[in-house]
Amino acid sequence: MQKDRKVLVRIVAGAAVALTALGMTAAGNAMAGTDDVKASHSATAKKDGPSTKIVGGTPAEQGEFPWMVRLSMGCGGALFEKDVVLTAAHCVDGSGDNTSITATGGVVDLEDSNKVEVKSTKVLQAPGYNGTGKDWALIKLEKPIDQPTLPIAEDPALNEGDLTVAGWGADKEGGEQQQKLLKVTVPFIDDATCKKAYGELVEGEELCAGVDEGGLDSCQGDSGGPLFRKDEAGEFVQVGIVSWGEGCARPGKPGVYTEVTNFAADIKKAAGELG
Ligand code: ARG
Repeated sequence: MQKDRKVLVRIVAGAAVALTALGMTAAGNAMAGTDDVKASHSATAKKDGPSTKIVGGTPAEQGEFPWMVRLSMGCGGALFEKDVVLTAAHCVDGSGDNTSITATGGVVDLEDSNKVEVKSTKVLQAPGYNGTGKDWALIKLEKPIDQPTLPIAEDPALNEGDLTVAGWGADKEGGEQQQKLLKVTVPFIDDATCKKAYGELVEGEELCAGVDEGGLDSCQGDSGGPLFRKDEAGEFVQVGIVSWGEGCARPGKPGVYTEVTNFAADIKKAAGELG
């Protein structure tokens, strides 16, 4: 679980060049032959999950989730402001000036000629992030991406019900990154149930979503992307950030997401300070 995440981060970082070149190459395939990939594949082989076909999702429509961005290190993100992307802490290396990340927005198809690509200028990784909990980060962009933003949820009462996650990550455990954005809707799972599934959960900082029988989940490469729902006013709000899971879509192993409501004040403050 914890280990899955660390292995993945190394794959993602190593595959950045290939991902930039192709925009959709499977992190695993791009790095075939490296130790990282062997490690992740053997971990996968041990307990193979269901390989239904984000896992079990369907294609998103152009413009359906206009705030979705793909990040060049192989993660997802959401426009918190037109020039600030909210993603996962484990998708970035630390905080400070950083011009190495490219955000692609405005399209569901990463090969669409209408895509907008903007470089990063700064990264803010959640203060105190050490690999457990606090899995959020902000990326400041060189210029705005002219798309609607996704507000973050502030009321913990929103942490329930049917939640949607979207991304260009693998469509099954060990699968390839996707050229076209996929979405899937999964029910919220309470902390006690999730804690039973994993034995570990940073309560208050992480929330879980998935179905008992498996088959529906986010997966590698979806990290950093938003888990969202509609609020009482019928507007989309972000309640989670794709963080980790044991494999993908395995029965009894829900996806684990950063609990955005808990960090809403910190995220807002940090975004203000990013300039
Ligand atoms: N850590 C993964 C990433 O970097 C996300 C894994 C999500 N896993 C899951 N079963 N929901 O892309």
